[in-house]
Amino acid sequence: TVDGEGRRVFELRARTGRHDFGDRTADTWGFNGAYLGPTLRATRGEQVLVNVHNELDEETTVHWHGMHLPARMDGGPHQMVPAGTSWHPTWTVDQPAATLWYHPHPHGETARHVYRGLAGMFIVDDPETSVAQLPNRYGVDDVPVIVQDKRFSRNGNLNENTPMFSGVGLLGDTIVVNGATAPYLDVTTERVRLRVLNASNARVFDFGFPDDREFALVGTDGGLLDKPYRMKRVMLSPGERAEIVVDVRPGERTVLRSFPPDLGADTWSERFNGGEDTFDVLQLRAADRLEERPELPSRLVDTPRLDPGEAAETRRFTLSGTRINGDAMDMDRIDVTVTKGTTEVWEVTSREALQHNFHIHDVQFQVIDVDGAAPPPHLSGWKDTVFLRPNTTFRLIARFADHADPEMPYMYHCHILFHEDEGMMGQFVVV
Ligand code: C2O
Ligand code: CU
Ligand code: CU
Repeated sequence: TVDGEGRRVFELRARTGRHDFGDRTADTWGFNGAYLGPTLRATRGEQVLVNVHNELDEETTVHWHGMHLPARMDGGPHQMVPAGTSWHPTWTVDQPAATLWYHPHPHGETARHVYRGLAGMFIVDDPETSVAQLPNRYGVDDVPVIVQDKRFSRNGNLNENTPMFSGVGLLGDTIVVNGATAPYLDVTTERVRLRVLNASNARVFDFGFPDDREFALVGTDGGLLDKPYRMKRVMLSPGERAEIVVDVRPGERTVLRSFPPDLGADTWSERFNGGEDTFDVLQLRAADRLEERPELPSRLVDTPRLDPGEAAETRRFTLSGTRINGDAMDMDRIDVTVTKGTTEVWEVTSREALQHNFHIHDVQFQVIDVDGAAPPPHLSGWKDTVFLRPNTTFRLIARFADHADPEMPYMYHCHILFHEDEGMMGQFVVV
């Protein structure tokens, strides 16, 4: 709905419930319903207002992951919403068309809140950077695919204990897509666009198909790519998104599968942190007659590359243990001060045998290079989260524009939620 002031208004009520996963029912949390939340959707240039009502018995927050917005609206750990109260963030959407998401961010408690089911997708449309020839009928040939891994206890409820030997916190053995176990999608068109979000706490997925068919990667975290890339696999660590377009044949059954991801870690870590696991994620059931769809265009959107030569600062971030540059997150310490309107290069390296990733609030960045090499297709567009293989240096570049607030920080952190909760997070202000 749109209010009298022309704002697009959303209502989100965080509450407890009991959710039917398909083969079992469990106590869960959700926005508006028992598990996950509605897909929010707004167009560039629109002002949005979200009325966030916390109907839980404890405080939480709602963070708009990937959104460019003022720090006070960001929903990080400084915007706690006490139990029984409401919060009313509002901002003007100003970024390219993209698949973003929202989830809680209470300091030290994010893993538990997300695991219980608080998360949803936020789709940004933009006449300039949406491509009309891409499948775009929501729920028909343009489908959100929120992938999570869960463990269930014998009583059917979510098991919130960290598996033995896991260095990354909660790792599940059961895949849940949009809140359903053993999920399938009835496909009625010859091409389908899947907006895949890894909303897991810790698991890294390497998506592909059993017959190794190629699909088109058309978008990543912050928007569409310059062109469709034919791929057989795409890897997503927690928080990352990929928009893929898959061709199906009439009557066929296939499955989006996650193959063992190359975590780049030692054998022990690979074994206990998900590096050897295969999962069927989403079955695609194609109808006997499929509606025709246009071929994908050869070009998508033109995105100028940010120029490292124009960077005002180069900063280094080293992740090790659950620390960044040796420090654990301190709500009262500002780690980085960025000047509004400048471009910065952030060099990020993980010095550990197990997986980490790196997420920056407020901005979408570009990957300049990975150990000096040009970024592969899935890292060639706008990103807000990247998977870090151990001892690999990523050079990221971002422009910190529009919003300044010397008092209110944004976060950067590892999006493996257990690590984030343990303090693998820092704060930056834009002044
Ligand atoms: Cu998706 Cu700071 O988070
Ligand atoms: Cu975020
Ligand atoms: Cu980590």
